[in-house]
Amino acid sequence: MMRTRPLKVALLGCGVVGSEVARIMTTHADDLTARIGAPVELAGVAVRRPSKVREGIDPALITTDATALLKRGDIDVVVEVIGGIEPARTLITTAFENGASVVSANKALLAQDGAALHAAAEQHGLDLYYEAAVAGAIPLVRPMRESLAGDKINRVMGIVNGTTNFILDKMDSTGAGYQEALDEATALGYAEADPTADVEGYDAAAKAAILAGIAFHTRVRLDDVYREGMTEVSASDFASAKRMGCTIKLLAILERAADGESVTARVHPAMIPLTHPLASVREAYNAVFVEAEAAGRLMFYGPGAGGSPTASAVLGDLVAVCRNKLAEATGPGESAYTQLPVSPMGEVVTRYHISLDVADKPGVLAQVATTFAEHGVSIDTVRQQGRQDGGGTEASLVVVTHRAPDAALSGTVEALRKLDTVRGVASIMRVEGE
Ligand code: NDP
Ligand code: HSE
Repeated sequence: MMRTRPLKVALLGCGVVGSEVARIMTTHADDLTARIGAPVELAGVAVRRPSKVREGIDPALITTDATALLKRGDIDVVVEVIGGIEPARTLITTAFENGASVVSANKALLAQDGAALHAAAEQHGLDLYYEAAVAGAIPLVRPMRESLAGDKINRVMGIVNGTTNFILDKMDSTGAGYQEALDEATALGYAEADPTADVEGYDAAAKAAILAGIAFHTRVRLDDVYREGMTEVSASDFASAKRMGCTIKLLAILERAADGESVTARVHPAMIPLTHPLASVREAYNAVFVEAEAAGRLMFYGPGAGGSPTASAVLGDLVAVCRNKLAEATGPGESAYTQLPVSPMGEVVTRYHISLDVADKPGVLAQVATTFAEHGVSIDTVRQQGRQDGGGTEASLVVVTHRAPDAALSGTVEALRKLDTVRGVASIMRVEGE
C-alpha cells in the first residue's frame, strides 16, 4: 500500500554530488515514490554560500543553518554530501539524535570515525549507508556487506581513485604532464576540493580502510593503511614499465594473512602487466577485484567519481534507507567481530622493480647482487644500460626481484644507497598482479 505522507529528506551539501542528488530526486520523483512505497520530499538543502544560483532547486529550501534543519523534528533521512570531518561528523550525530537515518558519501569521515558513527546509528535504531563513499557509482559496499556475507573474503585489489587513474592514464597514453592531467581531472569534478587527498593517496587509503573493515569484519582505520601517493611517478617509470610489458596504477590492496590471524592494507603505485584486467581501466573509471573463498574472483567495474555516477550510489542508498524506515527496520550495521590486527607494511610480501644509477665499471653488478643476497632478496632479472649523459662512466641498472618482504627490500635499498658505486636510487616500484 502506498503511503501518501512523504518521507522528508534533508540534503547537506549541494556541490558536485549534492546538486546531482537533488536533480535526480526531482526528475525521478514518481519512480522513486513507486520503488519506495511513499513519496520522498526534499525538505531542505544546507549549503555554505546561500546566494549561489542552484538550478532546479527552490530557493526557499536553501539554508546555511544545517543544525536547525536537522532539529526541525520531521526529517526522516539526511543525505550528507558536504565532505571532510567537521561539521559533517557533528551533523550526522545530530541527525541520529533527531531520529533521521543517514546516507553519506564521506569516506574521509567514515575511515576515521566509522566505528563511532555506526555505534550512534545502532543506539538510535537508525541506518548509516555509504555506498557512494567507495568507488563512486560501482555497487561494492552492499555486495560485500550483504551478497558476500556468507563467504570469506581473502583479498581485495583495485583502483579506487578516479582522479589518479585519470592522471596516470593520461601520462601513459598521451604523454601529458602531471599538472595538465590533474587540471583536467579537477575541471571534470573528479578531484577532491584539495587534490592532495587524491594524489597523495589519502582518498584511496580512506576507501581501503572502509573496504578492509567490511571484507575482513574487523576495524581498520585510516592510520592502519600504508600509503604512498603517485606524485613521484615519472615518464621514465612509465618507460620502464613498458619495457616490462606493464603499466602503472595506484592500487589499494587488502589481504588476509595465510594463517588468517592478521590483515594488511596498503595503497601505492604499482606496475601491473598489460594483460591484467586492471591495466585496461582507463580515465576516471575504478575497478575492484574481490577474491572470496567460495565465490572465487569477482570484478566490480565502473565510473568511480563525478557528480552523476556518485549521485546514483547515493540514491540507491536513499531508496534502501527509506524502505527500511517504512518497514520500521534497519539494514546491516557494522560487523567487526573478528578484531584482526593490521600488520605493518614490512610484513607485506611482493615483487619490486628497482632502478639504480651506478658507476659503469668492473665488479659493480656483483656488489649490487651481493647486497640483495645479504638481505635475503632474490633477483629475478637485471638489465644494465650505459648512460649517454654519464660520459661512459655511468649506467642505469634495473633489478626486478622475486617476492620478498617489504622490510627486506627497504633494508636492501638502504644498503645500496651507502655503496660508493651506487650514485642514486632512481625509483622503487612494487610489481603486482602477476
Ligand atoms: P563539493 O565541494 O562540490 O560540495 C560540497 C558542498 O558542501 C557544497 O555545496 C558546499 O556549499 C557544502 N558545504 C561546505 N561546507 C558546508 C557547511 N559548513 N555547511 C553546509 N554546507 C556546506 O564536494 P563534492 O560534492 O565533490 O563531494 C561531497 C562528498 O562526496 C565528499 O565527502 C566527497 O568525498 C564525496 N564524493 C565525491 C565524489 C566526486 O566525484 N566529487 C565521488 C565520491 C564521493 P557551497 O555550495 O555553498 O559551497
Ligand atoms: N576524488 C575522488 C576520486 C572522488 O577521484 O576518486 C570519488 O571518491
